[in-house]
Amino acid sequence: MIKLFIFDLDGVLASTSEEHFTAWKEVIKDKFNLDVEDFVEEKTKGVSRIESLNRILETYDLEVSKSVKEDLANIKNEKYKELISAFNENNLFEGVKELFEFLKKENILIALGSASKNGPSLIDRMKIKKYFDFVVDPGPLKSKPHPDIFNEAMNHFNLKPNECIGIEDAISGVKAIKKAKMIAIGIGNKDVLKQADYIYESISKIDYSFLETLIKDNYE
Ligand code: BG6
Ligand code: MG
Repeated sequence: MIKLFIFDLDGVLASTSEEHFTAWKEVIKDKFNLDVEDFVEEKTKGVSRIESLNRILETYDLEVSKSVKEDLANIKNEKYKELISAFNENNLFEGVKELFEFLKKENILIALGSASKNGPSLIDRMKIKKYFDFVVDPGPLKSKPHPDIFNEAMNHFNLKPNECIGIEDAISGVKAIKKAKMIAIGIGNKDVLKQADYIYESISKIDYSFLETLIKDNYE
């Protein structure tokens, strides 16, 4: 029996994975006069701010000192915050509120398992804070694909992996859910999120009767 759903935020509940990448592209263009290519986006999804930067720098064989890295990460965050400054409940992806309402009706707990330190303020701004029974603080935890964020939510409620479902749009996130031994629902492209147990193009495409069966099944 499933008791907890753990949601990623960026790219699952709202388009903010795009704003994260746009901010990085601007930072790298300003600093190195380099156009970060689209294929790099997937590498930056789901991982912490500094790890995203490390992955971009690595892709282009760029080396900078620790303090320059910190500066770039701070500038990126300022740009990101600017890009989402007008975000409100209209920026929620279609079907998100309906899914939360459905889960509440089924007595399922809801947790936020985002790597983003901007997550709490964003859910507040998008008026969905009230649906969350727990919000994981990613600060002290290891970045996805490490399972820490998902385990933290599970442990908060004293649950077992087979009582939890994780929902993710990033390869690193799906890997983290699988390492936590939970069911993984991937949101996005099925050719990319191969490791997920079930994949939907978007939250609005999730089949509720299937979800009902999934919730009530017993997994050992
Ligand atoms: C994840 C994004 O949700 O949050 C990553 O997919 C981002 O791209 C990470 O790096 C950290 O976000 P923030 O807001 O703490 O910089
Ligand atoms: Mg995401």
